[in-house]
Amino acid sequence: MSKVTDGPAITADLRIKAEARNLNFYYGSFHALKGINMPIYERKVTALIGPSGCGKSTYLRCFNRMHDLYPGNRYDGDIRLHPDNTNLLNPQVDPIEVRMRISMVFQKPNPFPKSIYENVAYGLRVRGVRGVALLDEKVEQALRGAALWEEVKDRLNDLAFNLSGGQQQRLCIARALATEPEILLFDEPTSALDPIATASIEELIADLKDKVTILIVTHNMQQAARVSDFTAYMYLGEMIEFDATDTIFIKPKNKATEDYITGRFG
Ligand SMILES: Nc1ncnc2c1ncn2[C@@H]1O[C@H](COP(=O)(O)OP(=O)(O)OP(=O)(O)O)[C@@H](O)[C@H]1O
Ligand SMILES: [Mg+2]
Repeated sequence: MSKVTDGPAITADLRIKAEARNLNFYYGSFHALKGINMPIYERKVTALIGPSGCGKSTYLRCFNRMHDLYPGNRYDGDIRLHPDNTNLLNPQVDPIEVRMRISMVFQKPNPFPKSIYENVAYGLRVRGVRGVALLDEKVEQALRGAALWEEVKDRLNDLAFNLSGGQQQRLCIARALATEPEILLFDEPTSALDPIATASIEELIADLKDKVTILIVTHNMQQAARVSDFTAYMYLGEMIEFDATDTIFIKPKNKATEDYITGRFG
């Protein structure tokens, strides 16, 4: 079991939204995550950093039970979701329920081959939201939440593919937000975007954390420093260090973390 070095002091205004407890994950016989313990604080941004192949995406995908989609994958340990203390990984917990509470935004924008409106309305319809007025209201709310409304309000019936890459990524964020998830997962959400689109997504992430808890994988150290409140450094499937982002970047406790963030790794 990997040890997390002393974490940040838990103060009165920090609440734990989710928590990995001795989490292990296996792709067949390959042990990809090794005894991870880590809190995810409510309405904060937590960044996952570490070299390629260390398990960031694997860890993120545990939170919405994505690994269930492939045979041979196995979870061991808990991811507790609070306040109800549900273990997301319990086989008796329906992965569809989990994905209602925890949404994911991927590296490359992946809108459905539908209109802008229908991309956002899709999850709402699946969840039984009926009535044009209610759908209109929720679609607008999600597009506003993703800072896209002003750009698309007059072209809601256009195909989503006609949007720019940055707009498509904000549309995917709107789609994820529409069903009011408790946690948003981002796996390198800006790596396919130019610097201007990247800046707008980063701004958006800063605004979103008033409403939702965010877990983001990034390869970009500056991005982690800019957007996150907490940072976790992973290496070879282990959680090496977790702490307040300032501490990780200014005074990490672990030499391996310091080597990575200062670019001395490898
Ligand atoms: N479907 C799979 N089957 C077997 N092994 C896998 C599978 N997906 C990932 N792995 C392995 O699990 C380890 C962790 O991979 P993961 O994709 O989580 O890394 P990562 O930290 O997200 O890397 P990157 O920064 O390159 O995206 C790697 O050794 C990878 O080769
Ligand atoms: Mg990855």
